[in-house]
Amino acid sequence: MPTESLTITDNRTGKTYVVPIDGGTVKAMDLRQIRTSEDDFGLMAYDPAFQNTASCRSAITFIDGERGILEYRGYPIDQLAERSSFLEVAYLIVHGELPTQPQLDDWCFQISEHYIIHENIKKFIDGFHHDAHPMGMLLSTVGALSAFYPDAKHIFDPATRQKQMYRLIGKMPTLAAFAYRHSRGLPYEYPDPRLSYAGNFMAMLWKRTGGEERYTPNPVLEKALDLLFILHADHEQNCSTSSVRVVGSSQPDPYCAVAAGIGALFGPLHGGANEEVLKMLREIGDKEKVYDHIKRVKRGEVKLMGFGHRIYKNYDPRAAIIKQAAHDVFAVTRTNPLLDVAIELERIALSDDYFVSRKLYPNVDFYSGLIYEALGFPVEMFTVLFAVARTVGWLAQWQEMLGDKEQKIARPRQVFTGHRGRTYVPMAER
Ligand code: CMC
Repeated sequence: MPTESLTITDNRTGKTYVVPIDGGTVKAMDLRQIRTSEDDFGLMAYDPAFQNTASCRSAITFIDGERGILEYRGYPIDQLAERSSFLEVAYLIVHGELPTQPQLDDWCFQISEHYIIHENIKKFIDGFHHDAHPMGMLLSTVGALSAFYPDAKHIFDPATRQKQMYRLIGKMPTLAAFAYRHSRGLPYEYPDPRLSYAGNFMAMLWKRTGGEERYTPNPVLEKALDLLFILHADHEQNCSTSSVRVVGSSQPDPYCAVAAGIGALFGPLHGGANEEVLKMLREIGDKEKVYDHIKRVKRGEVKLMGFGHRIYKNYDPRAAIIKQAAHDVFAVTRTNPLLDVAIELERIALSDDYFVSRKLYPNVDFYSGLIYEALGFPVEMFTVLFAVARTVGWLAQWQEMLGDKEQKIARPRQVFTGHRGRTYVPMAER
């Protein structure tokens, strides 16, 4: 029983209410008792964009936005980035603990068993125009998996849930790579379970058709891609994860919920930002022009893409890790001249009062696009890479929600501002 409480006095009635405080929150439903009369509906919390509303209890990802801290299941992101692998982190996020070696081996085996996709899924991809955005293709094909795996609807059966996780984590790189190959007019390259998760993905993307027996990924680039996957694996109740939870709350299979997450991630204010960052850096083009761009941002003409975050009011710890990794990648590939533009942009922004006073720092998307481009990805694939990694977080959050007895179907309230009780006007009288 919470020992802390909040006393509220309703100045309309003079009545006083005591509301328990639990974990730094008051329950919005506790406000409902605050009424002016018997037929008053009761007080509601008004919070457009959920800026100050906790929608769930979660034990998966901790963020301290003021201090720039990110932890998965209690492990700091920099330790995981340095010492772990994406599939090990995926196990941690889904199961709550780091795996033993046999657990990890089994986890990797089960996921690799599900790399392959049903042949008919290829027909869906074939149906898209050559210029279809790969996020649109990914969204549709993940949604289509719902029709391929009708058993997935038994969401309260742990074994079935586990199987869909193997399937989705396994198939995401395949769907992403097939979407890429389709847009290039290349034949699909089937997965190779002997390679690592990132290495297999690279092979499906870039293995040469005809002639190349086996694709051997460059170990530095393979590690960099794996690292980027780790950094994007989860980020608590962001827009796409909340979408997964909201859709999942009506209890469809996870493919429907994850497809919703992909849709949310596609937007330029969320996962689509990395694509926008690269466009912006190209538009600026030269270090000398950075200052002019900053002036445009300050005049409110454009946003500085890759800057700012709803939660981080400090340097996004993922951006710092990516910035470092960019140098490793550029040691193998050629240097991207846009890196100089990005560094100059960051330098000027971080010393400018507009950004300092608003606590606007580089976020995960600021440097990731530069690495993705160096790895050989076209900009349209950037958000797809984000989606491949974030699938792990979406699934873990979805599973956590299903086991949470406090959760119900998500259904916000509204403050109605429209007309009431009007009489229909015939067409001739309008
Ligand atoms: N450039 C210029 N000004 C900005 C920016 C920016 N990138 N971000 C916020 N501001 C200003 C904003 O105009 C506002 O100013 P004022 O107080 O004068 O009205 C102030 O900073 C507070 O911003 P806000 O819009 O209230 O912040 P928010 O929490 O609603 O938005 C955000 C967060 C990430 C949507 C926003 O910072 C943004 O649009 N950033 C650019 C897009 C981007 O990089 N998105 C990736 C986010 S990280 C990856 C992910 O989660 O997907």
